[in-house]
Amino acid sequence: MSIRPVQSHTKATPTMEGAGVHLHRAFGFGKTADFDPFLLFDDFRGDSPELYTAGFPWHPHRGIETITYVLAGTVEHGDSMGNRGEITAGDVQWMTAGRGIVHQEMPRGDAAGRMHGFQLWANLPSSEKMTAPRYQEILAGQIPVVTDDDGTQVRVVCGSFWGQTGPVDGIAANPTYLDVYVPPGTRKSLPIDTRLHAFAYVFDGSGTFGAASEPRPVPTEDAYGRTMAEVDNRSLVLFSSGDEVTVETRDEGVRFLLVSGKPLQEPVAWHGPIVMNTREEIETALRDLREGTFLDG
Ligand code: CO
Repeated sequence: MSIRPVQSHTKATPTMEGAGVHLHRAFGFGKTADFDPFLLFDDFRGDSPELYTAGFPWHPHRGIETITYVLAGTVEHGDSMGNRGEITAGDVQWMTAGRGIVHQEMPRGDAAGRMHGFQLWANLPSSEKMTAPRYQEILAGQIPVVTDDDGTQVRVVCGSFWGQTGPVDGIAANPTYLDVYVPPGTRKSLPIDTRLHAFAYVFDGSGTFGAASEPRPVPTEDAYGRTMAEVDNRSLVLFSSGDEVTVETRDEGVRFLLVSGKPLQEPVAWHGPIVMNTREEIETALRDLREGTFLDG
């Protein structure tokens, strides 16, 4: 087994989206190669309603998938196909925009006024960018939870892990989406297919990712302090290649999303919520929006 060294370690930065939702963006609207097939990751946790109730009113998507995971509060959604519903604590909505969808997403707080949620954008390969739109709604109870002897707990939203397979299927980039809790005083290795790009986003507790206490037989360039990352709330860690990720905790546990997917290695033309391969395809999408033909299939 080879431990994936930490390639980069950053913190999500505050930004504003939608009609005025205060959120933290871990990555997005920048270099796309490192995180390919993923495009963007937003953390929209807020402890008071004025931070999030403006929401994300009607807007289009084409060429991507959006994955919304709610930990507290509710996201009410509606779309151009006539779907209406809400995603509540522990639920996941996996939306394949394909050739086009127009929807709105409106966060609502829980009884304590809190809204905690995440949204990940996954790119679609060129062959599936104009596919029919599709939703997968996954209720908290449908997500398998695996607990290891040391108390490590993994919720498997998508992909397979420790013998469990998550409920989301048929996703082009073959992603794995895990919600992982590692208890205090634990050193844990988590396998990830070596062909996949992988990142972790920490949202509670603290720990160290990388080859923390395992001396390498042959020192490599990044064995000198560049393989590890001390992480806490809102840390984003991008891993380089290997077939497992290690995390070590001390006085407190750590909770993070561990996401991996197969790089598409295709050109990216990006215009807001529309992500295609070429500039011409973006122009076509914008013309479709102007002329009211965006949803025609
Ligand atoms: Co949206």
